[in-house]
Amino acid sequence: MNSFINEVDFFKGNNPEDIAREYGTPLYVYNEDIIRDRMMKVAGVITRYPYRANYSCKTNTNLEILKIALSVGVNADAMSEGEMRMLLHAGFPAEKIFYVCNNVSADEMRFAIDNGITVSLDSLDQLRLFGEINPGGKCAVRINPGVGAGVHEKVVTAGKKTKFAIPEGDIDKVFEIADKYGLKIIGLNQHVGSQYMDPTPFLEAVDNLLRIAMRFEKLEFIDFGGGYGIPYHKLDDEKEFDMKSFSGEFTAKLDKFVREYGSAPMFKSEPGRYCVAEGGVILGRVHSIKDNYGVKYIGTDIGMNVLVRPSMYDSWHDIEIISDGKVVDRDKKKMEKATVCGNICESGDVLCKDRPLPEVRDNDLVCVLDAGAYGYSMCSSYNTRLRPAEVMICSDGSVKLIRRRETFEDMFAFY
Ligand code: LLP
Repeated sequence: MNSFINEVDFFKGNNPEDIAREYGTPLYVYNEDIIRDRMMKVAGVITRYPYRANYSCKTNTNLEILKIALSVGVNADAMSEGEMRMLLHAGFPAEKIFYVCNNVSADEMRFAIDNGITVSLDSLDQLRLFGEINPGGKCAVRINPGVGAGVHEKVVTAGKKTKFAIPEGDIDKVFEIADKYGLKIIGLNQHVGSQYMDPTPFLEAVDNLLRIAMRFEKLEFIDFGGGYGIPYHKLDDEKEFDMKSFSGEFTAKLDKFVREYGSAPMFKSEPGRYCVAEGGVILGRVHSIKDNYGVKYIGTDIGMNVLVRPSMYDSWHDIEIISDGKVVDRDKKKMEKATVCGNICESGDVLCKDRPLPEVRDNDLVCVLDAGAYGYSMCSSYNTRLRPAEVMICSDGSVKLIRRRETFEDMFAFY
């Protein structure tokens, strides 16, 4: 693909240079149509049985994005009191929120209980705590099925080397604690990891969880977690996650389970990245170009405080160059290897290393693709920099500011 931005008309006819001038850079820009499309796709993964996708909102909690999720009809999972509050604020009713917490205080758990939000417990200790503060209550438990998946060791969330969930060997203890406090276990959940393009480990974990589910009576739901990958190398023609064949294989496993279990609980999943990653880009300004001992450095205002994924996980994000408001044609321009970096005082503050890019000039815009997931939600104020603004290219083509840039007044407001 020569240009994703042009291929999908990401800015819907708006000139990115005008947007960058009006709202400043660095700037998160989202496309409502793409986000709606991906959310609708995850909502339709299983059609034969009662099924809900929970948008995993740690990925991006911008209020407007939560409202899109609500309007598309997906539920949501929350990881913290802040996320629960954001979802309630966006209009999600409590029954559409699933609180998948780990290592939280009694107060945070009580917030979920008092608001009627279903809680999933991630350890025997947390199950005990839940029993103490809410005897006779209903809850779910998060099971570690013993297999994990994911593109980087830091995004694998199950298997034998992670902090998450209750191992299969401890299930008798789950029953003991539930008995002691009169708890009703109404759901099981798992999440094996993130950004897999081959669903084999996920499907293996589905088998494991369904086998474990046979030990629980009258489950109301089973939630298989998220993790569906997106093509981060789309400019090199990487293929999309094959949702259709995944959906077929997934349904076949559920068929077998429903026959053996005798009924179909509500099946759920928890995709985050798939819903929003491709619907977001970052626009940044080129402020300096230099040659340091044979390496060409393109200095931008997209620091690791704006997008931490490349420094944290060595993640790849495709980059397009926008010059005078137009995407530079990669087929027509001479490609030259360059290292694109930010404005933070760390040598790891690098968006990409030795990447073939078309010729870049001072004041051009750098457009980082697939930044809608784990982008803004992982921003920081490192180097006492202000968090960027976020704008939405709405379905009708209008450009809407959906979160203002932080200000220096905000910075002083904590004191
Ligand atoms: N459910 C649970 C319990 C999770 O822990 C996660 C992600 C998800 C669902 C959603 O996973 P997704 O569909 O987005 O893969 N910051 C990393 C990803 C960390 C994922 C943590 N858990 C990144 O930037 O790649």
